[in-house]
Amino acid sequence: MLVNMKILYATETGNARDVAERVARECSRQSIKISLTSIDAYDARQLPKEDKNILLFVCSTMGQGDPPKSFEKFWKFLLKKNLPLSTSLLNLKFAVFGLGDSSYEKYNFVAKKLFRRLEQLGGESVIELGLGDDQHFSGYDGGLDQWLETLYVKIFGSEFYREKIIGFKDKLDVCPVEVSVVVRDGDGDGVGSVDGVNDDDDAPVETRRGVMRAVDSMATEEVSDDNNGTYWRALKVMKNECCTSESAVRQVHHIELDNRYTDVHDFSPGEVLEVLPCSRSAIGREVLDLLTNSIVVKDGDNGYRAILDAENLVVSVSSSGSSSKNSRYICRAKYLVAYFLDCFSASPRSYFFEVCAYFAKDPLEKEKLQHFASPEGRADCYQYCQRERRSVKEFFEEFTSVKLPLEWLLHVAPKLKPRQFSISSSPSQHKNSDGTHVDLISITVAVAKWTTPLKRLRSGLCSTWMAEKLRTSDVVYARVVKNGGLPYSHTGSMILIGPGTGAAPFRSFILERCSRRNFDDKILMFFGCRRKAEDNLYETDWENVEKWSQGNIKVVTAFSREQENKVYVQDKIRGDSSKEVWDLISRCEAKIFVAGSSEDMPARVREAIRDVCAKEGGMDKESATRYIAELEAKKRYFVEAW
Ligand SMILES: Cc1cc2nc3c(=O)[nH]c(=O)nc-3n(C[C@H](O)[C@H](O)[C@H](O)COP(=O)(O)OP(=O)(O)OC[C@H]3O[C@@H](n4cnc5c(N)ncnc54)[C@H](O)[C@@H]3O)c2cc1C
Ligand SMILES: Cc1cc2nc3c(=O)[nH]c(=O)nc-3n(C[C@H](O)[C@H](O)[C@H](O)COP(=O)(O)O)c2cc1C
Repeated sequence: MLVNMKILYATETGNARDVAERVARECSRQSIKISLTSIDAYDARQLPKEDKNILLFVCSTMGQGDPPKSFEKFWKFLLKKNLPLSTSLLNLKFAVFGLGDSSYEKYNFVAKKLFRRLEQLGGESVIELGLGDDQHFSGYDGGLDQWLETLYVKIFGSEFYREKIIGFKDKLDVCPVEVSVVVRDGDGDGVGSVDGVNDDDDAPVETRRGVMRAVDSMATEEVSDDNNGTYWRALKVMKNECCTSESAVRQVHHIELDNRYTDVHDFSPGEVLEVLPCSRSAIGREVLDLLTNSIVVKDGDNGYRAILDAENLVVSVSSSGSSSKNSRYICRAKYLVAYFLDCFSASPRSYFFEVCAYFAKDPLEKEKLQHFASPEGRADCYQYCQRERRSVKEFFEEFTSVKLPLEWLLHVAPKLKPRQFSISSSPSQHKNSDGTHVDLISITVAVAKWTTPLKRLRSGLCSTWMAEKLRTSDVVYARVVKNGGLPYSHTGSMILIGPGTGAAPFRSFILERCSRRNFDDKILMFFGCRRKAEDNLYETDWENVEKWSQGNIKVVTAFSREQENKVYVQDKIRGDSSKEVWDLISRCEAKIFVAGSSEDMPARVREAIRDVCAKEGGMDKESATRYIAELEAKKRYFVEAW
């Protein structure tokens, strides 16, 4: 019987990785040999030789049916024309689980494509394609539980009983993170660095670098070098101004970052800046309270003890995993909680409850947590936690008998995840005097706020932090995501559709053309907001570019709430601009770009373009739909939605 499994995951926001880790955990409880690898760290040329392993692919779908960045190289390999069909992967046995959201048109597109392609190349699927759906009442776990049970039985046989793999009531897994208390700074053998310890609260930049190194030393699986901390750059805030009125439902901030001292010399309009958010409480009282009240540390051979001096607790962290990069790293515990974990905003997943159930002293709390961690309790757990966006801090306030060891907190609490923002400035407009380096990068940030089903007011971690906390000279950790984003070109006509913060990448496009004085090709931009006096972002910029370009750049604005009937960008496209849109598409071969909210805007815009093609191009609806699909195939229709 084959009992080795390799898990390859491709994730953008971490869910696929969580699934991969769950499978690895459940298999290792059964002593099955498992390896866990981010797909960009896997050499795809090994695929034909994987006759001793079953490969499990876990991958999400992002954008409008796009793969996560880490999937691209692997996918390119699979699409190679010289791979003979039916025979290339004859030795491969595989399973695919996809993560997606059925409210998107291209639901789980990547997993579906991958499954088909692996079969086409001769691979043998050991189970039908598994799909997780954000829309399911218990999230992606809804599709995962049953699928995994079937997978385990198919691969490992019926002795792989569910009771054995799901939930440990009396026995704890081995925690891959190791933590030991360092009594004095620099104490402990084999310790390479004490940077994190020497930093105080006034030196957050170096502290954060220290935590990144600590995080590297806790890594248990192979990830590509692109994912490690060294790629982050420290950028100082030059300007942070609110560009909406007080009455606006959603605040939007224009933030300018000083890029003069980084080695990121250039970028292309359309690329995005990835930002590491800061825990809302940073290193304030809340972190110390959490450590003091709910977390325990090893006390030599005497089990665990409460943390007495959370402010000054210094720990050495390392991993018992297989990563070759592993080394021990010394850091203040409060920095690890503040800069590595998201304990004050994100919701923990079911493994967190499983581990906490083990450490709960109160029998009622234990029972409730065991229920949350069980497949039967998934929906309740989802309602309690994800739907309500309940944080780790809120959890500990309710489950007071749980005293969690620090290493487990570091392993199972949600990690701070980077957020992406479309760059809204033009690179060439901000080049230094000799034109070799871009000095300024701006982003346009909408503050996320919403109420939960139980009417609790919640706000987005990164956008709230940036809008409310960042002052001039504060530091943001960020990196430009190269070769991603919308493909800008210096020439050619364009139709740009960017309501709300969707305007950000198009401001960059348009200002870049202006900066290069390229006004030969027409640009028609559709911007949408609620009211002229509330959230009419970059109004002055649009007026200026229309003037400079002498009409070759035109900005049409849809104010949705200025009149009785709501008017959106799609209405403007279909309405007065219909002929102009068709002329640009059919005669000027314009490229169409759509950016902004992922709700139903991209679908409504697509319908509007289809209607324009039908009306002005004399097509029926089906032909117009096909026409747009062809534009997409010819790389003339792009969507970036979030
Ligand atoms: C390629 C790309 C480009 C982007 N460009 C921009 C940009 O230019 N400007 C910009 O502002 N953002 C942009 N974003 C979005 C941005 O990355 C963040 O997702 C956004 O700022 C929210 O992050 P946050 O940390 O504030 O919120 P989080 O703490 O991450 O919370 C957001 C999450 O909370 C939940 N949530 C939020 N609102 C609601 C609601 N009303 N009801 C229920 N649940 C809700 C959702 O689960 C949502 O995913 C972009 C995203 C991508 C992928
Ligand atoms: C900006 C964005 C775009 C998305 N686009 C799609 C999509 O086109 N199709 C789909 O099935 N799911 C889509 N999703 C849903 C994700 O696939 C889903 O949330 C998944 O759990 C994310 O997994 P990850 O964290 O491993 O990346 C999208 C999610 C976001 C945030």
